[in-house]
Amino acid sequence: MKVLKAPQEIKLEKLPKWMSQKAFDEHYNVLYKGYVNKYNDIQELLEKADLSGGNATYSQVRELKREEAFAANAIRLHEAYFRSIGGDGQPSGKITSWLTEDFGSVENWAEQWRACGMSARGWVVLAYDMTDGRLHNYTLDIHSDGVWDAVPLLVLDVYEHAYYLDFAASGRKTYVDSFIASVDWAHVNKLVDHLELEKARSAA
Ligand SMILES: [Fe+2]
Repeated sequence: MKVLKAPQEIKLEKLPKWMSQKAFDEHYNVLYKGYVNKYNDIQELLEKADLSGGNATYSQVRELKREEAFAANAIRLHEAYFRSIGGDGQPSGKITSWLTEDFGSVENWAEQWRACGMSARGWVVLAYDMTDGRLHNYTLDIHSDGVWDAVPLLVLDVYEHAYYLDFAASGRKTYVDSFIASVDWAHVNKLVDHLELEKARSAA
């Protein structure tokens, strides 16, 4: 049975001041909603797909399933990105302890995050990894990259479309610094609680 997605409502007022109306419209209204529409198109096509002709070089199912993963991750990563920002950038509570335990200090985490932000072609994800019960900064070059069994807590979009309008194509470093200064750590702590990651971590 197909399950169609509706776009999550994201409000510019909740996002940091550095994000302009134009950049928000391009990123949220055009790109993000475009991924939702394409994901739903794929679900409709999968309903009617010929399941008898599976083939790993080319088949209708192969191509649809490949792009389904691409669109599904694009949607989730963008939603996590927009929810990651709009705060004061000051880590507090549980996540401060975990960043300190797993990276040595919050400053060490931020240093590695900045380096990842300059090195990834698509995304930087702070994830809680279920396999070792630790936080990791992972990088993705394309939406469909990723590490399984790792829960994204903080997501940075470093595709050029995310920053060239507000920071210029050469402004990635300033953009990454601006992102860090506007992280919504209260949201990250809420995720840790909601997903009961403390229980998972103590059992790891
Ligand atoms: Fe994006």
